[in-house]
Amino acid sequence: MRLLSLEVQNYRNIASASLTPGRELTVLCGNNGQGKTNLLEAIWLLTGGKSFRGGKDAELVRRGEPFAVLEASTQRAQKDEQEPDDPTRVRLTIGTPDSPRPGRTASVNGAPPKRAASLAGSFPAVVFDPGHLSLVKGAPEGRRKFLDAALCQLYPGYLTIYRRYVRVLQQKNALLRRSSTAPERPYAEKAALLEVLNKELALQGEAIQQRRRAYLAKLAPLACANYEELSRGAERLTLRYAAQFEPGGLAALLKARQAEELRAGQSLCGPHREDLELLLDGQPARVFASQGQQRSVVLSLKMAEAAAAASITGEHPVLLLDDVLSELDDGRKQYLLTRMREKQTFVTSCDDTAFLKTDGEVYRMNGGVLSKA
Ligand SMILES: Nc1ncnc2c1ncn2[C@@H]1O[C@H](COP(=O)(O)OP(=O)(O)OP(=O)(O)O)[C@@H](O)[C@H]1O
Ligand SMILES: [Mg+2]
Repeated sequence: MRLLSLEVQNYRNIASASLTPGRELTVLCGNNGQGKTNLLEAIWLLTGGKSFRGGKDAELVRRGEPFAVLEASTQRAQKDEQEPDDPTRVRLTIGTPDSPRPGRTASVNGAPPKRAASLAGSFPAVVFDPGHLSLVKGAPEGRRKFLDAALCQLYPGYLTIYRRYVRVLQQKNALLRRSSTAPERPYAEKAALLEVLNKELALQGEAIQQRRRAYLAKLAPLACANYEELSRGAERLTLRYAAQFEPGGLAALLKARQAEELRAGQSLCGPHREDLELLLDGQPARVFASQGQQRSVVLSLKMAEAAAAASITGEHPVLLLDDVLSELDDGRKQYLLTRMREKQTFVTSCDDTAFLKTDGEVYRMNGGVLSKA
């Protein structure tokens, strides 16, 4: 995938900016708080997803302005680099002059605008944001989200399964909560209802786990190879799916723990309680990884995510790397700089010295004003 050009108006602190990226590396440098991440976030919005910083749509529009506009030209690289597709023009707006609730809409090649989410899949990108460091140290939920988000991007059917699972899980939790607070309801009635819900949970839960395992089988070797090269073999990364059940075993597990769940008043087993374990030299990275090691793990995962998507869809996502080099030693920096030259990559940095030797396009961001360095 390639971004050919981007025009930004009234986005965050950027009144107006025009970016013509390099084929491979584009560097956005500048001091703190100048708008580098804002511009990276604007590129990310072309994926159709929400802000990776969790920003609400209203926060994305420049203060005092009614709406923001992003106009981009993108192109699929596809298998045949010699004969790429015609460029696609995307116009994304956030808010409208007369709407009290600003939403994001997108128009492709001049067609009538649709919800921005309809862009999903048309501009694949993978983002590394320092907030993602919590993937290593944070709760299992973040790691499950990492897997689920990738699966949703790759297979539209996964979102359907996932939503079904979550809906039934909510019903089950409501039932379990009621049964622990209102024990007067006949036990047999509750158990019968629970059985119906568990049957559906087992069906969707097995499908979720099976897809996560299959995706991990692709992702893990890529991530481990990335880590190996990034750290020059200093330590070894392994990924392990921490499963609660073996394939085909969820129904039996739910049955076995039914009484316990009724007592606890909440659901205790299923893929929503599983985890992706990250190990460095066999030890949990969550407990033992240093700052630079955490960063290396997350980067290895993210680059693996991009490579896995490329092998599944045939289209390599654009890489958006926010403040990626800090805390890394020179060897790791050097390795990343070479990786950045392989696929279209956007990188922000306060310090441009590492990039001056590269042949990337270097831009400077100053108070929301973008200029060629
Ligand atoms: N809706 C908005 N309207 C105007 N300014 C905004 C808006 N949202 C954010 N900003 C401003 O954008 C600036 C932050 O920009 P950004 O996060 O891109 O900085 P940065 O260059 O990435 O800095 P750092 O190097 O610290 O990461 C802040 O000063 C913030 O006040
Ligand atoms: Mg930033």
